[in-house]
Amino acid sequence: MNAPAPASRIPAPLWLLAELTYRCPLHCAFCYNPIDYARQGAELSTAEWIGVMRQARALGAAQLGFSGGEPLVREDLEELVGEGRRLGFYTNLITSGVGLTEARLARMKELGLDHIQLSFQDSTREMNDFLSNTKTFDLKARVARLIKQYDYPMVLNVVLHRYNLDHVERIIEMALEMGVDYLELANTQYYGWGLANRAQLMPTREQLVRAEAVVNAYRARIGNRVRILFVVPDYFEERPKACMNGWGSVFLGIAPDGTALPCHAARSLPGIAFPSVRDFSVEEIWYASGAFNRYRGDAWMKSPCRTCPEKDKDFGGCRCQAYAMTGDAENADPVCTKSPHHAQLETIVTQAQRAQAQGTTQPIVFRSDANSRRLGGGA
Ligand code: FES
Repeated sequence: MNAPAPASRIPAPLWLLAELTYRCPLHCAFCYNPIDYARQGAELSTAEWIGVMRQARALGAAQLGFSGGEPLVREDLEELVGEGRRLGFYTNLITSGVGLTEARLARMKELGLDHIQLSFQDSTREMNDFLSNTKTFDLKARVARLIKQYDYPMVLNVVLHRYNLDHVERIIEMALEMGVDYLELANTQYYGWGLANRAQLMPTREQLVRAEAVVNAYRARIGNRVRILFVVPDYFEERPKACMNGWGSVFLGIAPDGTALPCHAARSLPGIAFPSVRDFSVEEIWYASGAFNRYRGDAWMKSPCRTCPEKDKDFGGCRCQAYAMTGDAENADPVCTKSPHHAQLETIVTQAQRAQAQGTTQPIVFRSDANSRRLGGGA
């Protein structure tokens, strides 16, 4: 562990994301979990998770998300939710819905769980079940009704890509029928399994333009009845997103084996030793670890970010994307038109579309333990 950076200059983490497990009953082709998840270490125990939550709360973290994999796979989820609430966190369950029985939901409601985000893969049973490689559409519909019945704000997340972008109207209609309060239409970002399937999932610009026009027409018609968020894929943007609001600025992710991560995809970056909560306190990790200090501030930046007037707005974009596309995480995110690598985005999009048109894309690699072991180096 390095000498602590002056804590006064580093804000406390606000958001603790507990990735409780990489186990998941679904096999989504766009999952952001690492490809090699099957060879990661043993999951933290209940007591270890509670220790992490206490430490993060003591540092000032206010929001606690439970995700995975599928967090409902963990039988101690209720205990963790209860402890999170006792500590004063705003608690959020991010789930596929698989495993959310009425008994479990009732218990979590009793314990004070604040918020549930349910994912669907599509508005049609066929596409939902194809993309998740499971028969879960009807089950998810039942879970959506349960969530309403237990008086939760209904937050629906649908990941978009070329297979379902043309269904946006039906997806919004489905959300209206379900009484959704908040609909997140998040175009696939290419990390983890999404990156492995990029050529198959890449939409056309025309699809995006059409889908966004549909969203805007609904927004105008229904006002705030359902708040719709439409996240454009990075590859079609001209300025990068402020990924994680800046590295080590608000987000503290803990992987199932206790590895602390400043973003979802950080494990893809080579040469960084991400510390484990099994070896260090959360305070040491947040303020003093080399991993969390690596891309704080702007001293690490190269040209054109270093002198860019927008660097305080986007922090140079996404380190993981810069690495994935340029081989150097310190480069500007190539999404930015000021990046000398920006043209690569267009090449990737064009090549993907050409392969789709010619039918020469590789088959989709669905997320599974076997594929993880095969592609991630085995365990
Ligand atoms: Fe790692 Fe953006 S996902 S910095």
